[in-house]
Amino acid sequence: MELNLLEWVQLAVRWIHMITGIAWIGASFYFVWLDMNLTPPAKDGDKDKAGVGGELWAVHGGGFYEVQKYRLAPPEIPPVLHWFKYEAYFTWLSGFVLLSILYYFGADIYLIDRSIADISPDVAILIGLGSIFGGWIVYDLLCKSPLINNQAVFGVVLFLLLTAAAFGLSQVFSGRGAYIHVGAIMGTIMAANVLMIIIPGQRALVNAAKRGETPDPRPGLWAKQRSLHNNYFTLPVLFIMISSHYPMTFGNTYGWLLLAGISLVGVLVRHYFNLKNQGKAKQGFILLPIAFVLFFAIAIAAMPRGSSEPEQTVSFATAERIILDRCTSCHAASPTDENYDAPPKGVRLETPAQMAREKTRIRQQTVSTKTMPLGNVTNMTDEERKLLGWWIQQGASTAN
Ligand code: HEC
Repeated sequence: MELNLLEWVQLAVRWIHMITGIAWIGASFYFVWLDMNLTPPAKDGDKDKAGVGGELWAVHGGGFYEVQKYRLAPPEIPPVLHWFKYEAYFTWLSGFVLLSILYYFGADIYLIDRSIADISPDVAILIGLGSIFGGWIVYDLLCKSPLINNQAVFGVVLFLLLTAAAFGLSQVFSGRGAYIHVGAIMGTIMAANVLMIIIPGQRALVNAAKRGETPDPRPGLWAKQRSLHNNYFTLPVLFIMISSHYPMTFGNTYGWLLLAGISLVGVLVRHYFNLKNQGKAKQGFILLPIAFVLFFAIAIAAMPRGSSEPEQTVSFATAERIILDRCTSCHAASPTDENYDAPPKGVRLETPAQMAREKTRIRQQTVSTKTMPLGNVTNMTDEERKLLGWWIQQGASTAN
């Protein structure tokens, strides 16, 4: 009963996380697009004299919009000024709650994989939290170092550091746990950029304008740098958030390298759109085929190789014993594993017919990748994975 309630809580939080995330990223994409498409008003015209630095017209939802951006601040701050910050805060908060429910309360099954590192839940959670908050500290120091003056070098260093984090985390967590923590590090950097740099910068701008002073342009510049970083983070982070559906990514032996490659695809695509918004679609166009080829090169490199020919005939009795020992404690109508009160994902592995019907997914989850048993809580051996794979290759017959 309580378990079932927790699942509902999880569903609600996940739903909120998705909604706020869409609102945040949608607004951020819109403003980046807006900024890059503004054109300066006529020189010495009324708008130029009033301090307007760029303007554009758009049509949407049955009406015309005229947007103007001031070079610094308007002569007078309007009574109603819209801020965009709660989307970011609530995305982070709901994400953190979701991470805690799944990966910290469920550390034993989702975060820890005893065949990778036999650590206790406490240690695992400390490493997880340390990586998330440590990630922000390292990134923030990097932004305050002279490195920030060279965008390209900064980008490469940040990319290498995050890849190192992915590698390090994959040595202590399950593949899935490592991926989600890289996502959490990046998401935290993004939300903290909003909270600590972007919003304070805007507040300084508004306050200076209210006092009738010329605002210090530096906080605005910092905010712009951080917004640009957030912009390049979005596609990789979104990939990580859906990656748990694709065990062939996080379940790969070189999952961390795969993550780096797919993130690079996301960055290239984002870069193309940024160039396009600046009217450089032609120069940037080559990035799209590069991203496409890179993505499928990664896919091919990640394919399981040399699916070994079965060395022996595996009887159903052997396969059935393995499944009953290693899977059925969770995958049953009434699981005996105390963490579940219903079969996860509706997958039941109790009868011969169910085992045969699920053969493709069984192979994917236990042979091609070692995603199942979750966290290897039932101590499945590599020998058993091999036997199960052969049984499926031989047709998954349930006749003995
Ligand atoms: C500790 C409990 C547990 C054990 C033991 C376990 N599983 Fe799972 N299994 C789960 C959970 C939880 C999910 C849902 C994972 C998710 O949320 O993505 C799942 C999902 C699956 C899926 C569906 C995957 C998908 O997304 O389509 C398959 C297939 C599966 N398990 C097979 C197995 C096999 C085969 C074994 C034994 C070798 C096994 N499981 C052992 C908990 C377990």
